Amino acid sequence: MSNREKKMNLSSIRVEYDLHELNEDMLEKDPMVQAQKWMKEAIEAGIQEPTAFTLSTVNALGRPSSRVMLVKDITDEGFCFFTNYESNKGIDIAGNPYVSINFFWIELQRQLRVQGVAEKISEAESDEYFNSRPLGSRIGAIVSKQSREIPDRKSLDAAYESMMKDTAHHEHIKRPSYWGGYLVKPYYMEFWQGRPNRLHDRLVYEKQPQGWVIKRLSP
Ligand SMILES: Cc1cc2nc3c(=O)[nH]c(=O)nc-3n(C[C@H](O)[C@H](O)[C@H](O)COP(=O)(O)O)c2cc1C
Repeated sequence: MSNREKKMNLSSIRVEYDLHELNEDMLEKDPMVQAQKWMKEAIEAGIQEPTAFTLSTVNALGRPSSRVMLVKDITDEGFCFFTNYESNKGIDIAGNPYVSINFFWIELQRQLRVQGVAEKISEAESDEYFNSRPLGSRIGAIVSKQSREIPDRKSLDAAYESMMKDTAHHEHIKRPSYWGGYLVKPYYMEFWQGRPNRLHDRLVYEKQPQGWVIKRLSP
């Protein structure tokens, strides 16, 4: 096989973005209200996993890593998600709370880019969400020592099955202290709408002492 054949040339894959436009007069004053509006439109568009986003964190060595997550609440203050506080991302955030999150709704040709600071939500709020989850998910959160190495799949399934069988204790299952929510409070939010000829709309909200300032960026 020649070097040429080993390469994967993807240059012929080309999508034109022409569904929508985004103008200054269409924007809400508050970027969180704008984010709620775009989320509502993503849900109404019937796309798969509209709440999925990519979360990037930076570790103690300054090395970034990204993973897909699900947002569970978009409040006036920020974006809320749940995870294991002792996972790699939890350790990263404990050392450096500056994170970046990114939603990509291809069916709407939209991207929402956010930079913000992650902080733990209250224990009561984490309890409330944990208790609302299906039993299987609650047990899953308890048995998964997320991001730690495990010997094999079997041991994970065995830990799950053992808790599942122990029906007498199901009503006493409590949120473990190592699992809970974070709220990402943004200081930068960019609403990106794909447009023809790669001349996309990019409208940015930046948090300034006097409030949110809106700017348009070149695509
Ligand atoms: C669609 C999708 C949704 C996910 N949602 C979550 C989530 O809400 N919370 C979570 O901890 N992990 C979620 N994950 C798993 C993460 O991507 C990741 O594998 C895990 O959190 C471990 O990341 P870490 O080792 O960097 O901490 C999701 C993965 C996918 C593909």
